Amino acid sequence: MKSLIIALALVAAVPLPAHAEHRTPRDLRELAYQNGIRIGSAVDIAALRNEADYRKVLNREFSHVTAENAMKWESVEPERGVFTWSHADALVDNARRNNQKVRGHTLIWHNQLPAWLTSGVENGTIDAAELREILRDHITTQVRRYKGKIRAWDVVNEVVNDDGTMRQSIWLTHLGPGYIADAFRWAHRADPHARLYINDYNLEWNAPKIETTLSIVKDLQAQGVPIHGIGFQGHLGIQYGYPGDWANVMSRFADLGLEVAVTELDVRMELPVTPEKLATQADYYRRALTDCLSVKACREFTVWGFTDRHSWVPGWFEGQGAACLFDENLAPKPAYHALLGVKKA
Ligand code: XIL
Repeated sequence: MKSLIIALALVAAVPLPAHAEHRTPRDLRELAYQNGIRIGSAVDIAALRNEADYRKVLNREFSHVTAENAMKWESVEPERGVFTWSHADALVDNARRNNQKVRGHTLIWHNQLPAWLTSGVENGTIDAAELREILRDHITTQVRRYKGKIRAWDVVNEVVNDDGTMRQSIWLTHLGPGYIADAFRWAHRADPHARLYINDYNLEWNAPKIETTLSIVKDLQAQGVPIHGIGFQGHLGIQYGYPGDWANVMSRFADLGLEVAVTELDVRMELPVTPEKLATQADYYRRALTDCLSVKACREFTVWGFTDRHSWVPGWFEGQGAACLFDENLAPKPAYHALLGVKKA
């Protein structure tokens, strides 16, 4: 008896083996897995094809991918009726080989449309009836091509202005607001299993945009339109502060039955980089993931590029940059380590 007690006391004193604890994950893929979500990145196809180190980090860290540009209309149909799928195909093939889910981005947007389409609408050679046909064909062709290979589609991107009005675009002007419902229905018909999203920026905190987007969703649901998800782009900058109500905003959409995703997170800063700015950036990334994990419906957490070597920020925001988790040499930044330390509350 005495020896049994000693043996039990010894067992109790021995620390648990490392794998039995919720140990710090070794990379983002493991972090995502431990938390039952997918962590993704936008992918620069040229880098995927040409840079072995880029490919290695992408496939090691991420279990979800989005084409940064390769699935946009100007990329897939630069000339009318001439489809160029090779870049998008390369992304989808790489994803399959590396157990990554794919977000299709994007079916309807006001940017990066092919010139044949915008000029045809402008000069009147494409009238409203034809435009509607063109849109239906575009959605049907693209969604069908990747049927079963795309987990979620950004069906409409950035359709609401910051003041809460509907964005003017060739779609709204020529087809009327019903184009949104049509787009979701066409996409659903082409791949009934794909999760269909409405995606936007500033939705993290812009009240008029949030209210309008909520009412669009309710309106679509009331009509029986298949809409399944809300995408928060999450293009943040440390000079603007962190959107502190974000988790609550996510919940408001989740309460409508939608799945939630952070689809394009990056956290830019005014250059030059300083250790203080990197620490603030790390905190924003940490809070964004914490917010996502606090909402059960948040299934995907995607960054808009993972390395400062390939980021849209310097080209679009003068004097700003360093928005990603890894630096130009693919060394992990404080933000990367901050994410690995996030624990579900
Ligand atoms: C950006 C790409 O990152 C750039 O390479 C491209 O020149 C312009 O578009 N919101 C979106 C994305 O939905 O598609 C945008 O991507 C960034 C803002």
